[in-house]
Amino acid sequence: MTVREVIRMGHPSLRVPAVPYSSELLGSAEFNELVSDMRETLHAYGGIGLAAPQIDVSLRIVVIEIENTSTRYGNIEHTPFEVYINPTITSIAEETAGYWEGCLSVPGMMGYVERPQHIRVDYLTSEGAEKSLEAHGFLATVFQHEFDHLDGTLYVDRIKDLSLFSFEEEFAQFHADTKNENGLSETD
Ligand code: NI
Repeated sequence: MTVREVIRMGHPSLRVPAVPYSSELLGSAEFNELVSDMRETLHAYGGIGLAAPQIDVSLRIVVIEIENTSTRYGNIEHTPFEVYINPTITSIAEETAGYWEGCLSVPGMMGYVERPQHIRVDYLTSEGAEKSLEAHGFLATVFQHEFDHLDGTLYVDRIKDLSLFSFEEEFAQFHADTKNENGLSETD
């Protein structure tokens, strides 16, 4: 297992739509190595989600793991480690909500983004099973943030009011108690 370097905003690879992963390669040595490196990298950087393009691998693979549910992230549903391959998102209600998001590829910054808050996620597991789940609230934001990386989109693209784009220190000083209780939601 290797901790890979997380590339940062400005690196062109973050802006390229990633390629669907061939299900025939699931379980291969190459696949297992990539997933274990992504997990190791996620832990080393202290994130809760990581998309393959963030380690400069242009494949539609995301890992998400939320172990500690009461941290600087606020109160988050416990979400065991899972690999999401070729995921798609369907919005199943019109309701949106905003959270402050952060990104390992945009270190030191936070921004307020509104997104649909009731979604269905369809994906392949690392064993090749087709799975669906529904996500609400903050977790719905986490999925959307991560899957955006697969399309070359960063959360900064979705900030409508740039007065709500902030360094972390200024966020803590001026914004942490605004908006909503779960306002702090550093996603990956
Ligand atoms: Ni991110």
